[in-house]
Amino acid sequence: MERAAERAEGFNGLKRAIASLTAAWYGDPAQHQREMGAIWRKGWVAFTRAEALAAPGARFSGAIAGMNVLALRDGAGALRAFHNVCRHRGAELCPEGAGRVESGRISCPYHDWTYAEDGRLLATGKARAVEGFDRAGHGLVPLGVAEWGGFVFVNAAGGGQGDFEAEHASAVAPLAPWRPGALAPVHAETIDIEGDWKLFWENFNECLHCPGVHPALSALVPIYGRGIMEREDDPAWRGHGPDAPSALTGRLREGAESWTEDGRAAGPRLPGLSDEDAARGQTYAVILPSFFMVGHLDHARAVRVLPLEPGRTRLEATWLAPPDAGIDGAALAAFARRVMAEDAAACEGNQRGLRAAPFEAGVLMQEEYEIAAFHEWVRARL
Ligand code: FES
Ligand SMILES: [Fe+2]
Repeated sequence: MERAAERAEGFNGLKRAIASLTAAWYGDPAQHQREMGAIWRKGWVAFTRAEALAAPGARFSGAIAGMNVLALRDGAGALRAFHNVCRHRGAELCPEGAGRVESGRISCPYHDWTYAEDGRLLATGKARAVEGFDRAGHGLVPLGVAEWGGFVFVNAAGGGQGDFEAEHASAVAPLAPWRPGALAPVHAETIDIEGDWKLFWENFNECLHCPGVHPALSALVPIYGRGIMEREDDPAWRGHGPDAPSALTGRLREGAESWTEDGRAAGPRLPGLSDEDAARGQTYAVILPSFFMVGHLDHARAVRVLPLEPGRTRLEATWLAPPDAGIDGAALAAFARRVMAEDAAACEGNQRGLRAAPFEAGVLMQEEYEIAAFHEWVRARL
């Protein structure tokens, strides 16, 4: 393990250049499996929207990080999650997608083993009792489950709502004024990237690429056009007061209100926002390794990151707004869609280069302090 990256004093930045992760870690099947087990199956990962599990008896099944997961809302209204795998001989229990748990029972389609919604094995179909078999030892294997911001998170290492909040309270606190749990999806898109999941976060964690890759975004958020992410990334930031030009403060360009094609808000300002929240332009909350949400004046956008296989990653983007705001979701989505497509292309080019001999590792520059932190986070878990 490398030493923790040394930070500059007085501003956000690395003190000296450090090596990036070895190129062999991007898209290698053995490394991918290692990361799924040591990172993705050891913490909270975004699983689905809460609407999919709103009513008692609702269930949602899907693949994530090599797992097959079944989440449901039980008759008492509690969320539960299990590995969607029968304890008899391992058949998938529920088909992928949304459905219902009828009469609080989950039955395996293969030999009819039946489980209660709390995971207890209730019956073994036609299979007779046999010596050495105890039903109590063959219930469904649970996952931790929690809800935040209208999304359901699961954790293969276990835990409940309190554990989720204890771990991620400070990360999500900046978005509290957006009341994301009360927002509704107005648009959703899926983007598949031919690139490792780590490349998504590396790209997310720097803006050196912004002037070249994102001309429209750099015009809307002028500080991005300088290759930095926020005010404190500038060594001279203390000299720039809150009334300095937007290129120095990180606010949107003068006259712009939100991340839209023309910069105008698509709907009314969200009721919980302070003047400062509204003026900031963008406010982020990140839940590594699977999720971020960004709040703007009139809406929020959540992105779920899903590693599909070595070197392939899916992004599920959801635009969120008050249910009664009357926002045209497709029009709202146009701006960020282009930004995400630009980032996806950058990640794919990065992936192609990383897999080309004889490249072994790159180097992180001063502005890439957040990538250094991400790499430390990854290394600490492996
Ligand atoms: S595998 Fe499920 S009942 Fe046999
Ligand atoms: Fe970008």
